[in-house]
Amino acid sequence: MLEKTFENIKRLVVRHNQGHLLAFWEHLDAAQRRDLLAQIAGLDFSQVDDWVSNYVKNPVSAILPGDFGPAPCYSLEPPDGDMARKYAEARRLGEEMISAGKVAGFVVAGGQGTRLGFDGPKGDFPISPVKNKTLFRIFAETVAAVSKRYQTVCPWYIMTSPLNHSETQEVFRSNDYYGLDEGDVFIFQQGTLPNFSFDGKILLADKGKISCSPDGHGGSLKALYKSGAVADMTRRGVELISYWQVDNPLVNVFDPLFVGLHVLDEAEMSSKALIKAEPREKIGNFCLVDGKVTVIEYSDLPDELAEKRNPDGSLVFELGSIAIHIINRSFVERLNREGFSLPLHRAVKKIPHIDAEGRFFEPAEPNGIKLESFVFDALPLASKSIILETKRSEEFAPVKNSMGVDSAESAREMMVARAAAWLESAGVAVPRKQDGSADCLIEIAPSFALERDNVRAKVDQIPEIKAGDKLYLG
Ligand code: UTP
Repeated sequence: MLEKTFENIKRLVVRHNQGHLLAFWEHLDAAQRRDLLAQIAGLDFSQVDDWVSNYVKNPVSAILPGDFGPAPCYSLEPPDGDMARKYAEARRLGEEMISAGKVAGFVVAGGQGTRLGFDGPKGDFPISPVKNKTLFRIFAETVAAVSKRYQTVCPWYIMTSPLNHSETQEVFRSNDYYGLDEGDVFIFQQGTLPNFSFDGKILLADKGKISCSPDGHGGSLKALYKSGAVADMTRRGVELISYWQVDNPLVNVFDPLFVGLHVLDEAEMSSKALIKAEPREKIGNFCLVDGKVTVIEYSDLPDELAEKRNPDGSLVFELGSIAIHIINRSFVERLNREGFSLPLHRAVKKIPHIDAEGRFFEPAEPNGIKLESFVFDALPLASKSIILETKRSEEFAPVKNSMGVDSAESAREMMVARAAAWLESAGVAVPRKQDGSADCLIEIAPSFALERDNVRAKVDQIPEIKAGDKLYLG
C-alpha cells in the first residue's frame, strides 16, 4: 500500500520538477515515510508550477490597474447634520449588535514576529506601561470588559500557525484564559505554504520534512472556515467578525460606530484607515479600482501618485490601511463555498534547510522565497466595503521591531500618551515635560475605560497625578 502511494507521489513530484523531495526516502523509517507522503499529498500541486513561474522565479512587478482613484471614507467626525444623525444611528445599531452577541473578536496571531525577535508567541509579549501586561492579556481584558458592559458574551477567535500553535495554547492555559471562559476562546491554526529556493525547488527542513511557512494573514479567510470557527460562530449566532492584528495594543476591538456603519451600508468587509503621516509611509493605500475598494501596497504606488496633493494640500491618496476590519461571517462562508484564492506575495528570506547531501544549512544571507497572502486582498471580492477614518494616536501602535520605529518602546509611549489625553479630556491634570510628553506613566485598564468618554464618569476615582508618578487605573 505504502509502495503504491509512493509510486504515485513520486510520479507527481517528478512531473512538477520536485523529485528531490523523495531524495532521502531510503534514510526514513516507516512512520517518517508515511508522514512525508502525507505532507506532499497535502501540497496543492495544481498550483506549484504557477507559483514557481509567477512568484518564485520572476519577481513580478505588480500590475497597476489602468484607472484608479482614492477610496471614499467616513471621516473621523461627521461633516454635517445629516451625517451626524447617521453616525448616531450607526453607533446605536452597533451597540445593539454587540449586545445581541452578534459580534466576535478575531485576532490573527500566526506570524513569526521575526523583526521583534521575541522568544515565544508575539501575543505573550509584555507591553503595558505600568503593569507590563502582555498583548493577549490586554485583548482578553478588553473582551471581558466589553462583554460586561453590553451584558453579553463576546466570543474570541485566535488564529495561530503550526509554528506557534501549541505554545499559544499553553500560554492561554497557564494564564487560566485570563479569566475568560475557556469555551468562549477558540484557538485554531492557519495553513502553510512551502518555501522555495531561488531556482524553484521546494526546500526540505529535514530528510522527511518539507520546509513551510504560515500562509499569511490572508490565510485566515480559509482557516476560519476549515477550522470550524465559522461553524462555531453560526451556532452562537455571530454575524460579524471584528478582525485585528496581535501587535496593535491600542486597537478598539469592538467599535460600535464602525460596526454600525458597516451594517447600515450593507457592507461585506470593511476597514479602518488613518491619514498617512507622509506620502511614502510604509502602509497600504486605500484606492478605488472599478468601483471596488482595493489596497495598493506602498511599494507599488508610483511616486508621482503618492506625492500628489489636492488643492487644500492634503494627499490625494491619504488613506493608509492598518489591518482593522469588520468581516461578515456570511462573506467568509460565501468565499469558501464558491472557492476563492487570493493573490500571493513573495518575500525573500533566510530559510534554514538541508542541502542535496542532507546537511543542515543555516543561511547568513537570504536564500529563498516565502509566499503569503494578505487579508486586504479580499476587499475587492466584497460586494460592498466601507472605510472609517481613525486617529493614529487613538488606535494604532504597531509592535514590529525590537527598537526604534514601531517598537515596543514607541508603542508604550503611545499607550501613555493616549491615556494622558483621555484623562485630560475628562478634566484631569496630567504633568507634562517640556517636549509636551506626559511626565508620568499612566495605564488605563480596559475594565476602567474602553473609550475616551468612559473616563468622565470615573474622574472621582483618579488621584492627583504628580511628575514621575506611575498610575494604574483598573
Ligand atoms: P506581520 O506582517 O507584521 O508579520 O504580521 P509578523 O510575522 O508578525 O512579523 P515579522 O514580519 O516576522 O517580523 C501582521 C499580523 O498578521 C499576523 C501576525 O501575527 C500579525 O498579527 N500574521 C502574519 C498571521 O497571523 N499569519 C501570517 O502568516 C502572517
